[in-house]
Amino acid sequence: MTYAAGRHFLQIPGPTNVPDPVLRATAAPTIDHRGPEFQALGHELLRDIRPVFGTTNPVVIYPATGTGAWEAALVNTLSPGDAVLTYETGHFATLWQEMARGLGLDVDVLPGDWRHGVDPAAIGERLAADRGHRIRAVCVVHNETSTGVTSRIAEIRAAMDAAGHPALLLVDAISSLGAIDVRHDEWGVDVTVAGSQKGLMLPPGMSFNAISDKALEASRTAGLPRTYWDWGPMLAANDRGFFPYTPNTHLLYGLREVLRLLDEEGLQNVFARHARHAEATRAAVRGWGLEVLCLDEREHSGALTAVLVPANVDADKVRALILDRFDMSLGAGLGRLAGTVFRIGHLGAFNDLTLAGTLAGVQMGLRLSGVPVDPGGLDAALERLQAA
Ligand SMILES: Cc1ncc(COP(=O)(O)O)c(C=O)c1O
Repeated sequence: MTYAAGRHFLQIPGPTNVPDPVLRATAAPTIDHRGPEFQALGHELLRDIRPVFGTTNPVVIYPATGTGAWEAALVNTLSPGDAVLTYETGHFATLWQEMARGLGLDVDVLPGDWRHGVDPAAIGERLAADRGHRIRAVCVVHNETSTGVTSRIAEIRAAMDAAGHPALLLVDAISSLGAIDVRHDEWGVDVTVAGSQKGLMLPPGMSFNAISDKALEASRTAGLPRTYWDWGPMLAANDRGFFPYTPNTHLLYGLREVLRLLDEEGLQNVFARHARHAEATRAAVRGWGLEVLCLDEREHSGALTAVLVPANVDADKVRALILDRFDMSLGAGLGRLAGTVFRIGHLGAFNDLTLAGTLAGVQMGLRLSGVPVDPGGLDAALERLQAA
């Protein structure tokens, strides 16, 4: 390993760069998690995290990664053998389906091509056909991190309502929260699952469930075994500003700083910034003569862009060269996209020049790898960034 001067460019779609004030906030002395100082912190965070999810309902915080919060959403609302309807948007949707199967749920998967989001009409049709209401939950990924494709949650909810079906709507917002608009209450989501290490700009290791009244009601009779994930003791302790077990105090210090930063910028401005950077990235990709994986203009992710490389190119080799030459990490192609795409993360603590540097590194790396890209791609992105 040779010495690399300057800062590493961590442009994977999470974990993302942790802003310096957040890093500093985490480097404070540990406090008694059953004492009054912690209690004040707990009350503050459990209140102030709600607007980020677009909810006035409880949001529980787990000392776990997003996978834990996936499991929490399922085990708190469902019983063994319950049917759940899912949609194959990509690698993460597939992993959540596998988890549901592993928990003993009956998983019905609507097929997808990994280049589009969930088709709300397909969800509506499947629910309308389920006259006996066997399906207890619809589980979808809002921002599919493996593809850079978002799903239109409000339209999925509208399709569920139009079908007159009582299934719960469980949404993975792990890579959208804090980067792309998430509206738990307005969209009628029952459980929104999120994580710390993406749009929230925190280190990995903290995750969330925002819980609707209907989901809370379902949890009273849900029969899947649960202890660590159980909302019951968690919400009872949260009422007093505490946790039922040891919380990750230092990440909570960081969360307090993140909430301050998001408030200072304004959530809508945060989303607009992400959308603008995503647009500039697409301008670069198209200018290079390459293809963005997402095929629907309505579904481009503000958080990341997955780029298809020409058939004779190994995307992993391009990424390895970029890491070696320019000290920049890009996201790998996951699952069936391994080797055929690389992913540019443009979320979290990110500004115009971070994007310009990122895209310059990608362009140089592609050219050095022998991919015949048009260097006008970078100019196209800079033009977009120069515009207001
Ligand atoms: C959309 C999505 N869901 C779930 C996960 C799994 O979360 P974790 O790796 O934090 O357990 C990820 C991780 O990247 C993700 O992007």
